[in-house]
Amino acid sequence: MTAPTANWSYPTAVKFGPGRIRELADHCKAVGMKKPLLVTDKALAALPITAQALDILDAAGLGRAVFSEVDPNPNEMNMEAGLKVYRAGGHDGVVCFGGGSALDLGKMVALMVDQKVSVWELEDIGDWWTRANPATIAPIIAVPTTAGTGSEVGRAGVLTNSATHKKKIIFHPKLLPAVTICDPELTVGMPKFITAGTGMDALAHCLEAYSSPFYHPMSQGIALEGMRLVFENLPKVYANPTDLEARAHMMSAAAMGAVAFQKGLGAIHSLSHPVGAVYGTHHGTTNAVVMPMVLDFNRHAIDGRIEQAAAYLGIKGGFDGFRAQVMDLRSELSIPENLTAMGVEASRLDELTEMALEDPSCGGNPVEMTRDNTRALYQACM
Ligand SMILES: [Fe+2]
Repeated sequence: MTAPTANWSYPTAVKFGPGRIRELADHCKAVGMKKPLLVTDKALAALPITAQALDILDAAGLGRAVFSEVDPNPNEMNMEAGLKVYRAGGHDGVVCFGGGSALDLGKMVALMVDQKVSVWELEDIGDWWTRANPATIAPIIAVPTTAGTGSEVGRAGVLTNSATHKKKIIFHPKLLPAVTICDPELTVGMPKFITAGTGMDALAHCLEAYSSPFYHPMSQGIALEGMRLVFENLPKVYANPTDLEARAHMMSAAAMGAVAFQKGLGAIHSLSHPVGAVYGTHHGTTNAVVMPMVLDFNRHAIDGRIEQAAAYLGIKGGFDGFRAQVMDLRSELSIPENLTAMGVEASRLDELTEMALEDPSCGGNPVEMTRDNTRALYQACM
């Protein structure tokens, strides 16, 4: 089988398949952009795939403006710098091009072009999003170059507050990209540790959505099949980066994870966000590090459900078999064994615990997170 090609309209217009990046300018024009700003990160800005995307825009008369001052865990200063470039250039839309950081920061720029409220007032709490003026939000086209974040099909972005080091989820329905181009060829050149970390982020999204206690059978089904795609294809793309069919399946799994986590995330993300914010660690890799310990933490609440998943996935041994599969995948991908190996200091666990308890992902964890059990969970991850 070769890599699949398809057009989906769920949850937005998704143009899926190898080579679909060539349609970028057409989709920009279709949503009314005449002068888009392509937002990417520093590392990607220097790569041929970015030059190719800019060439495609340029050839269609849309210019080749790019903003790439985007840090790995982007903050409001990156956003302000992007807004400056956007306004000075008279742009009329954002092409978010890259991994989670670039996609999320691009979304923040589109959101904040002309708002009366600060970005922190649009955190994903209750109906805070209604504080934004929707009319001034710029159109967004998303082009993921990794397979993990799923931000390309999501209505939120993560922004780190540079003063408090806290990661905040900023939400608005209009942050759902108008068009998403999922071209697996763009993911072929990822460094190996990014392939591993982003792929494990997709698995974490599916696993946490699947485990969350809320009623959402649609997400439940999507999360389960997403896990299957990761278990089957992440080892393949890690071993053979040019396996385009497996790359395509990983790209699907990433989108599925983000669609599924409408049902909720959990302790993997609430533990990982503070570590990323304080130490600048890779988000997906950090998720992979804490995943087995979070499974143990939740075991009594999810035992039966994980057993069902294991049966579907063809994993023998129920919960224990599933956990063993996660451990095998981690070692196959050279994921660090614990948080200590990532540089996390025992002396900061109290502080990290407080931050984890404030993280909105806590709400979707199947076991209630308290100060004591969360501190103990961090300790187990060391
Ligand atoms: Fe994530």
